[in-house]
Amino acid sequence: MSTAYRAPVETDVSCSSNPGLEEVDQMAEFITVGKADDIKEGEATAFQVGDEEVAVARSGGTLYAFNDICTHRRCNLAMGGEIDGTTITCECHGSMFDMATGEVIGGPAPEPIATYEVREENGDLQVGVQVNGG
Ligand code: FES
Repeated sequence: MSTAYRAPVETDVSCSSNPGLEEVDQMAEFITVGKADDIKEGEATAFQVGDEEVAVARSGGTLYAFNDICTHRRCNLAMGGEIDGTTITCECHGSMFDMATGEVIGGPAPEPIATYEVREENGDLQVGVQVNGG
C-alpha cells in the first residue's frame, strides 16, 4: 500500500565537474575561533560561531567540534563535561554523547547533538559551519 520510495543517496562525489547537475547548496565555511594550542588534551572549550555555541575538544590527539548545548536541559557540555575517548558526559544529569557523531550514548538526552568539521590551519583552530547557498 505504501507508495513512498527513496531516491538513492549518492555519497561518492567525483572530481569531475557536472555542469548539468544542480550544485548542492550546502558547504562548510571554516571560521577561525582561536589557537589550536589552546585546546589541551582531554579538555573542551566553547566558542560562539555565528548563531551556534560550538564546543571544541581534544582527545587522543584528535580535535572534535560539536554543539555545546546538551539536548536534555541545555547545560553547557564544555563547561564541566567529562571527556573519555570520544565520549563527553554532561555534568548536569550524566547524558553521554559521542563527540565524533553527536549520537546519544546514554543518559536522559532525547536528541543527538550537532557535530562540525574542525581543523588546525597554521596553528589556528578552525570550525566548519554549514553555509546555505544564497
Ligand atoms: S542537561 Fe545535560 S544531562 Fe541534563
